[in-house]
Amino acid sequence: MSKKRPSIIAIDGPAASGKSTLGRRLAEWLGYLFFDTGVMYRAVTWQALKRGIDVHDEAAVTALANEIKIDVQPASDLDGRLCDVLVDGIDITWESRSEAVDANVSIVSAYRGVRLAMGEQQRKIGQRGNVVMVGRDIGTVILPEADLKIYLDASATERARRRYQEMKSRGVQTTLNDVLSIVLERDRIDSTRDVAPLSVAADAILIDSDQLSVTETLEKVQALCE
Ligand code: CDP
Repeated sequence: MSKKRPSIIAIDGPAASGKSTLGRRLAEWLGYLFFDTGVMYRAVTWQALKRGIDVHDEAAVTALANEIKIDVQPASDLDGRLCDVLVDGIDITWESRSEAVDANVSIVSAYRGVRLAMGEQQRKIGQRGNVVMVGRDIGTVILPEADLKIYLDASATERARRRYQEMKSRGVQTTLNDVLSIVLERDRIDSTRDVAPLSVAADAILIDSDQLSVTETLEKVQALCE
């Protein structure tokens, strides 16, 4: 007798633990929608920086989050992107992955009003099912009813190394040390914020990907789906 495949799958974990790559491949394998919620917080942060809004001004950033229209669409280019991120119709996919956004996104995503605005949209999409949703609080806050919850972890040095390689391959000028300090600072803010902090859901399955390739990690999760 085969059990039913999970319909709502939540993948949470710290910065650069490989959630997006895993989530994307798992969704492809299942024929599900892949939804990387981090892109929404990145889009708000990018827009705040572009408009010269002080990211420490909670009221202004929250107003911005409620005003802009964020759209996530299937990748329109084979340039390594996992999806297109649009703000008010403009493609900001790569801008939203800049070091400036990395350094500020955790400040923005800690604001209650920003999380309310983004969380509502995420929940609506997630509750339709047949979805792999990736973030920090998907299994704990957004979709606590998820059928399968994965918490993907890796050591900070390994995560920084992976993110550094990724940035280098895109031609971003940075150093491993800079990337590591941004990763550590984001972890600190994401885990200690008042609203929906990064934490392991009680019913999540913890996977440490330090010693695992992407394919090995995927195989572990595929086994949990069958
Ligand atoms: O890809 P990476 O793990 O580096 O980051 P991301 O998933 O794109 O998320 C960027 C930032 O958005 C995180 O550091 C969090 O501050 C925030 N975030 C969040 O608060 N809740 C989510 N569900 C997803 C992201």
